[in-house]
Amino acid sequence: MIIDGKKVSILSTDKNIVDVAKRNQIALPAPCYLSNRVNGCCKVCVVEIAGKKKYACTTAPDDDFEVIVDRTDLNALRKERIIEYQQGKHDNTPCECGCSCSDSNCC
Ligand code: FES
Repeated sequence: MIIDGKKVSILSTDKNIVDVAKRNQIALPAPCYLSNRVNGCCKVCVVEIAGKKKYACTTAPDDDFEVIVDRTDLNALRKERIIEYQQGKHDNTPCECGCSCSDSNCC
């Protein structure tokens, strides 16, 4: 797999792209995954693969992937989502984050 032009290996213990990035010291914020909250909830870990936006914490790694993490538009999107996540945007309202949980305070 390639992340930001760097060839990285995938280990059997890597459950997703966040695991691969973390093991290879590639900066990729993933607050809900790394804090054991509902996986796929914060959308901060957005990356691009083959022209499509994906969430790194819910995407299994694949040797054929070329993953873009560090790009101006993706960094700006992550910044917006970190602020929303820190503000607890969905607290006390029904879950609107698009994840599949039924916990109104998941995000
Ligand atoms: S870390 Fe929150 S959606 Fe991936």
